[in-house]
Amino acid sequence: MTPSALSASQHPSSSSLPRLPPNVIRLPATSQLEACLTIIRDKQTSRSDFIFYSDRIIRLLVEEGLNHLPVVGKQVQCPTGLPYNGVEFQGRICGVSILRAGEAMEAGLRECCRSVRIGKILIQRDEETAKPKLFYSKLPRDIADRWVLLLDPMLATGGSVIKAIEVLVDHGVPLERIIFVNLVASPEGIENVTKRFPAVRLICGWIDDGLTEQNLIWPGLGDFGDRYFGA
Ligand code: PRP
Ligand code: URA
Repeated sequence: MTPSALSASQHPSSSSLPRLPPNVIRLPATSQLEACLTIIRDKQTSRSDFIFYSDRIIRLLVEEGLNHLPVVGKQVQCPTGLPYNGVEFQGRICGVSILRAGEAMEAGLRECCRSVRIGKILIQRDEETAKPKLFYSKLPRDIADRWVLLLDPMLATGGSVIKAIEVLVDHGVPLERIIFVNLVASPEGIENVTKRFPAVRLICGWIDDGLTEQNLIWPGLGDFGDRYFGA
């Protein structure tokens, strides 16, 4: 069978967890998504292609994240003179990126929500221990009243995003209003985050097989921040 004859669920590299926790959503494993992922996983891929294809996946992730915001009914009048019973978003949102790599996802969010407010949290993993360290945070003043799309492309051990969620909670954000959007996740990271914060929603582009001894996602794509922004 040629690869194009495989349905998404039959793709040999479609890794799947036995059962995902209820608040974890994975993008549909379409051929387009897997083709983009194949390009960004390839160590030969140039930086400009890495940025281009990462941005394509980020746009899909942001659109999916926005699907999890509540809507209310809204009627409009169509040019045909007929009413249309549609919906509009209820409530306000903001993006919060976990720097450095999360900054790569801000443009994708702005493409969908033009003047969206963006907060930043600088967290860096120690290269030896993989333990996260919080350096800085600057968040919208009224963040406690907003829905938060938390942005970071990589979910490895989960330490960084857990620290970022703690910062949001300290600023009064209810856990139910946090949607963590990531490109590639490890099963270990998903387990750690969902055990600690079961009410937080996770939108994952792909779920890989595990972690290396150095706590990199396996097979993963290496250091996202270095490949996107330059080492
Ligand atoms: C990466 C990534 C996450 C974190 C994931 O950031 O962007 O923030 O590692 O790993 P974890 O789940 O084990 O915490 P890194 O600290 O390498 O910094 P960078 O954004 O500058 O690349
Ligand atoms: N951060 C990355 O950029 N890549 C990994 O595999 C793990 C953490």
